[in-house]
Amino acid sequence: MALSEKTIEICKATAPVLTEYGEAITSKMYEILFRDYPETRALFGEAPEDQHKKLAAAIVAYASNMDNLDVLGKSVEGMAQRHVATRVKPEHYPMVGLSLLAAIKEVLGDAATEDIIEAWKEAYFFLGDILIAREKEIYAA
Ligand code: HEM
Repeated sequence: MALSEKTIEICKATAPVLTEYGEAITSKMYEILFRDYPETRALFGEAPEDQHKKLAAAIVAYASNMDNLDVLGKSVEGMAQRHVATRVKPEHYPMVGLSLLAAIKEVLGDAATEDIIEAWKEAYFFLGDILIAREKEIYAA
């Protein structure tokens, strides 16, 4: 399934804002993730905090290349390898996704319209499905 034109347009248009508030969104995302889904804490083990931040930063950075998914190919492989090494599973994706969307809403407030949240939701799960598929192959190998 491809991303809709509308989603690509909205994500690209809002990527600069998300990048500007990236630090705040990222911190908030982890706060929500670890509060609502404490079982995800263990996955991050002893990783330094700035390491965690790569995750949300990658999600936001991805918006800039949304209509050029080939560019993502190489980073997808690295993420998938790291995820398998830390035992990330498909069921964790909605946890991170919902936490990320909640963080965007909280940080951007009224600026985060329904359309914007919907677009980011679609984009997140689109990338999530690509990662899940690659991780499944690596787990099976
Ligand atoms: C679309 C969704 C996601 C994206 C774009 C993403 C992106 C990334 C990136 C860029 C890294 C750093 C890779 C590296 O250090 O080379 C990473 C690591 C990691 N991610 Fe994800 N991630 C996603 C979903 C998830 C989910 C659902 C979980 C589960 C809670 C998760 C947990 C982790 C963990 C545990 C690490 C390793 C941290 C460490 O110990 O260094 N990620 N992710």
